[in-house]
Amino acid sequence: MKIFLIGFMGSGKTHWGPQLSAKVGLPFFDLDKVITEKENKTISEIFAENGEEYFRYLEKEVLEELVEENKEFIISCGGGTPCFFNNIKFMKRKGTVIWLNTQIDILVNRLLKDKYSRPVLKDIADEELKPYILKKVLSRKLYYEQADIIVNEESLSVDTFAEIIINA
Ligand code: S3P
Repeated sequence: MKIFLIGFMGSGKTHWGPQLSAKVGLPFFDLDKVITEKENKTISEIFAENGEEYFRYLEKEVLEELVEENKEFIISCGGGTPCFFNNIKFMKRKGTVIWLNTQIDILVNRLLKDKYSRPVLKDIADEELKPYILKKVLSRKLYYEQADIIVNEESLSVDTFAEIIINA
């Protein structure tokens, strides 16, 4: 089984991934974490020192490597992963893509507390965060919507989510 979790920053990919992995017994990879280990830099450092374009190439390369090297997995992608190159098509071809469709207000609340680790958000003033997220989610929706399965994160439990994965 090859599962890709996609969704906006703060949608819960990193929260749910390890729990699901423990529940259904699939190896778990956090794409951002694999990138930081490979580069020996934080995501913020990669953006600052090498730029977003470099990061997006790296993201694509590491995604493809993980898929090539592992027969089964749950991968938590970065919020932008499905929106660059042909990553969404690649993931759909290789496995099942699940979009964590989390309400905007929940995203905003989570990201207000945690925007500094995200180079895309760190320079946005708190009062600008909601309109920024609204706009960004809207522009990314056409990618997220291509997922094979769409789940509403608020009403999920580990058991129901695990069942979704087992039946995928
Ligand atoms: C990004 C999301 C981040 C990380 C990078 C860019 C984005 O991942 O890949 O900061 O463009 O949405 P998370 O969704 O895990 O925060």
